[in-house]
Amino acid sequence: MTPQRVLITGAAGIIGTFLRPRLARPGRTLRLLDLVPLDPAAPGEEIVTGSITDPATMAAACRDVDAVVHLAGISREDTWARILEFTIDATHTVLEDARAAGVPRVVLASSNHAVGFRDIGSAGPRGLPADSSPRPDTYYGVGKAAVEALGSLYHSRFGMDVTCLRIGSCFERPTDVRQLSLWLSPDDCARLIEACLATERADYRVLWGVSANTRGVLSPDEAATIGYHPLDDAEQHATAVPPADLPTRLGGHYCETPLGRAEPS
Ligand SMILES: NC(=O)c1ccc[n+]([C@@H]2O[C@H](COP(=O)([O-])OP(=O)(O)OC[C@H]3O[C@@H](n4cnc5c(N)ncnc54)[C@H](O)[C@@H]3O)[C@@H](O)[C@H]2O)c1
Repeated sequence: MTPQRVLITGAAGIIGTFLRPRLARPGRTLRLLDLVPLDPAAPGEEIVTGSITDPATMAAACRDVDAVVHLAGISREDTWARILEFTIDATHTVLEDARAAGVPRVVLASSNHAVGFRDIGSAGPRGLPADSSPRPDTYYGVGKAAVEALGSLYHSRFGMDVTCLRIGSCFERPTDVRQLSLWLSPDDCARLIEACLATERADYRVLWGVSANTRGVLSPDEAATIGYHPLDDAEQHATAVPPADLPTRLGGHYCETPLGRAEPS
């Protein structure tokens, strides 16, 4: 059955803002949590202002919840101290409070940067497998690999259904050549989350979050097993993208920027 009350952390961010209208359904309540103020609650919404680092806030936010979609935290390279606090430790807090509240299902936002040092050229005819072992390109990527490991632990120990999404580039439209391969459209992002919310058997999975891009380099096979069938293709925006070579590594310029220095993603 599709979950009735879904907690979205980081709901004020880019992806949270895409999902808010797209995940609205009759009979579903979206509980939207962020540090920063959100637009007032519409019918079928609840707003929580607070930090994922605060166990009491998260305990209250997880009460009577059927699924958590955990997006909040650091979404680009940052200092080791901040990755530890806001990505790794905070995800532990989210999972621990979800477990204590009996939440059966969690979707974790991981990233292509968990495997950013993988060579795009070695991807094979179906593309790079979604469960390729971590090859982080940054502290940010290490943080996402740790998020995936925590998700695995909470599935194995407590039977939670945990899906980790190695998101490519989820923006309104692709703006460079790498994103023509890695784009996840806002509508496909919502389709992917719906597929994660509708799985029938508790499991642990690592899936790519990408659209059906003509220049795709990531295998669509694993996400298809849970019924995710993307409909968008970055190619429709290709004429607006400056020509350039595709980077060798999946993580693109993250593989070369100094560790710990926040850069625009
Ligand atoms: N957008 C992408 O292309 C992309 C690609 C790969 C992975 N991801 C991952 O997806 C998730 C969402 O990405 P996004 O682009 O929407 O990021 P974003 O930076 O736009 O949004 C993150 C949100 O989290 C909130 N937040 C930060 N710290 C918090 C805290 N302590 N407590 C509560 N809220 C807090 C911020 O206020 C913000 O609204 C992130 O985990 C990111 O790493 C995104």
